[in-house]
Amino acid sequence: MIIDELRIVGSTQTNVVMTAELTRVAQRALKRRLDKPPRKEGLGQLVLPFDPDLAWAATTYMRTPTRVLWDLFRSDAKRLEPLYDDLLSDLLEDRRELWQDGDGISVDARRVDEFAAGERQVVGTVKNAIIDAARRRGARLHVEPDHPVTRWVARVDDRGEVIVSLDLGGGSLSQRGWRREAGDAPLREHLAAVLLMLARFDPRTDVLVDPMCGSGTIPIEAVQAARALPREAPMLEALGLGKGRKAEPLFADAQPIVIGCDLDLEVLAAARDNARAAGVTKDVTWQRADVANLRPETIADIVRERGREPGPGLILSNPPYGERLDVADLRALYASLGNTLRAFRGWRAGFLVGTPLFEEVLYEFVGEPRIKKPLANANLRAYFLLYDL
Ligand SMILES: C[S@@+](CC[C@H](N)C(=O)[O-])C[C@H]1O[C@@H](n2cnc3c(N)ncnc32)[C@H](O)[C@@H]1O
Repeated sequence: MIIDELRIVGSTQTNVVMTAELTRVAQRALKRRLDKPPRKEGLGQLVLPFDPDLAWAATTYMRTPTRVLWDLFRSDAKRLEPLYDDLLSDLLEDRRELWQDGDGISVDARRVDEFAAGERQVVGTVKNAIIDAARRRGARLHVEPDHPVTRWVARVDDRGEVIVSLDLGGGSLSQRGWRREAGDAPLREHLAAVLLMLARFDPRTDVLVDPMCGSGTIPIEAVQAARALPREAPMLEALGLGKGRKAEPLFADAQPIVIGCDLDLEVLAAARDNARAAGVTKDVTWQRADVANLRPETIADIVRERGREPGPGLILSNPPYGERLDVADLRALYASLGNTLRAFRGWRAGFLVGTPLFEEVLYEFVGEPRIKKPLANANLRAYFLLYDL
């Protein structure tokens, strides 16, 4: 069956955040409202009727999802031959311009373990159907795994049906292209964007401090998000989506004040390298500091140097969970963070944490979080906690 939907995929529990970001991106990049709110599928997917402009804007500007897909075909076939037949007849009937003569394509399969054939066979079948249909319609396509013009994806949905889509961002949107050194436990970039949204980071008024910044994911993401930098997505042009639109930063002049601290000099060096690769060297102040010694006065000095009046801001971090620290060390670390937070009266502080110990220890210093939201971090059960200090 031919379908025509825009699917925005992210981590579990991020549907509400992704909806908020999509609404904002539509307003800022397209100067329009969403006709109606997207349908939520599961805990981490949004689905809307396909709209070429919205597909362009979502792929170019959204930071919280991992993928933006254009769902094209659906089949309830349970074996390879009927899947091929279904796809071929849909592709022959379809009048959307999905290829040009000479295009290289790649086909991936995701979550197809329920299908009665291996992943490679599903990939081969989908690829054959596309190439055969294109040939019958007068276009020669070839397989080009590394630099395809269009990336196709087949997956089995919750109903057990195969959906064939175009992966408009050309791969994982979480990878922003700047990461040189990972550090020990880097946060995935799209999750940093989720944390910034959940904490309602406002770059015009909030100074942002990550006191345990590791490879720098949160500070770097904060600067890029503040400018609303566009993502390069050549497939959009190849498919004629967002015709006549220019992918430019939506807030090129934003001057966010962002500070990243860590105890470990080596990871700070990696964070600096990453910042350079991300083009945000001048925007982030990196400091070696033990969180126990972080003071609002130090932050105020940096803010003044950057020409702004110091005021309350946002502390945002994902502290160590305890993979390497035992419970006593972790308790001591959380206690010194809690003690530090007491000096930051009037600030907000958000944390992605993977153990209930964090909330328990912090309670003694800063009380209960205003927001507590489950989130998954690299498949680990985690929580986002937001405190008003
Ligand atoms: C989970 S990692 C943060 C990962 C980071 N968000 C990233 O994306 O790379 C926790 C960081 O806390 C730092 N850390 C541990 N104890 C600290 C302390 N007492 N003061 C400051 N940083 C500390 C570690 O060096 C580590 O880089």
